[in-house]
Amino acid sequence: MTGIHGLSSASASSVALAALGAVVISIVLSSTMGFLGGKKWKAQGKHVFVTGGSQGLGLAVAELLASKGANVTICSRTESKLREAVGRVKAAAKSDQQTIEYVAADVSTFEGAKKAIASCSSVPDTVFCCAGGAKPGFFIDQTESDFEHGMRTDYWTSLGTAHAAANAMARNKVVDGKIVLVSSTVGLIGLIGYSQYGPMKHAIRGLAESLRSELILYGISVHAYFPGTIFSPGLEEENKTKPKITVEIEGTEDGSTPAQCAKGLIKGIERGHFFITTDFGTELFRVAALGAAPANRGLVDRATALIAWIAIPVWRTFIADRMIKKHRKEHAQSLAQQPK
Ligand SMILES: *[C@@H]1O[C@H](CO)[C@@H](O)[C@H](O)[C@H]1NC(C)=O
Ligand SMILES: *[C@@H]1O[C@H](CO)[C@@H](O)[C@H](O)[C@H]1NC(C)=O
Repeated sequence: MTGIHGLSSASASSVALAALGAVVISIVLSSTMGFLGGKKWKAQGKHVFVTGGSQGLGLAVAELLASKGANVTICSRTESKLREAVGRVKAAAKSDQQTIEYVAADVSTFEGAKKAIASCSSVPDTVFCCAGGAKPGFFIDQTESDFEHGMRTDYWTSLGTAHAAANAMARNKVVDGKIVLVSSTVGLIGLIGYSQYGPMKHAIRGLAESLRSELILYGISVHAYFPGTIFSPGLEEENKTKPKITVEIEGTEDGSTPAQCAKGLIKGIERGHFFITTDFGTELFRVAALGAAPANRGLVDRATALIAWIAIPVWRTFIADRMIKKHRKEHAQSLAQQPK
């Protein structure tokens, strides 16, 4: 016979075990719920329209979705680049029954974006807004025209495309429409060198939240993607003006290829995730900055937020801010050489 004391400690440990079991089960459940609950999105049979589709992430998304059976229209400004890119998308296609086309258009105005969507052979049901590009630099060096350019290239392209697409989808009663916006890691955090770009990417997050809510009216789903460094032609362009201190904080090795990003992005869409990331650092920033946006994996997101709660202040204080303080002297010397 066990005494009172023995019995109570045994039941205490079984209560603790049961509680632990409940936590594990709910974590497993909440991480698979989206998968069990909703029907999985499929590219097969869709008509996908991709801005920024002639290179980098946009082209990789187009190729991947073509390989999964989607009709694809890629869009960018330069016809010569599009002609080459459309060949790559055709080569990736699952069958020769798919329609693979291109539209040359400048989507940085509403008129251009509307024309681009109207030029498609049929109304697209899935739209990826991948056009954009950073021009990094120090805030005090950048001009009004740099900021205006950022607003056009990094926000207006997505705003105009989403506006034209939502109009076409809603008014043509497209079933299961989808709009995918592309933000960035610096759409979740602020970082030295990105004052011309990051705030636009924050705006895209805001646009995604606004549209997620309003486009429920038409059954159009919305996703936002937050990539870190992508090894793409866009990065080479960024490299031309990126301050050394920004490169140092980012690290030169950390990054993914466009194909890796496209794969992770599509996986997130198939799972029905609202905010999608493809690297652990950005995932920490996502859960920390979730606000009122839907979580991807209920309790797992909350558990990851606990890690972020410790890791982010450590990173900010002891790595990023410290590196910037160390850079003050060098920066002051280069400032002194500039005309006032
Ligand atoms: C995809 O293209 C094929 C071939 O042109 C066409 O029959 C089909 O209706 C298209 N599907 C969509 C969703 O546009
Ligand atoms: C960008 O510059 C960094 C060094 O500043 C270099 O390591 C990296 O390979 C460059 N990337 C591209 C795509 O040019």
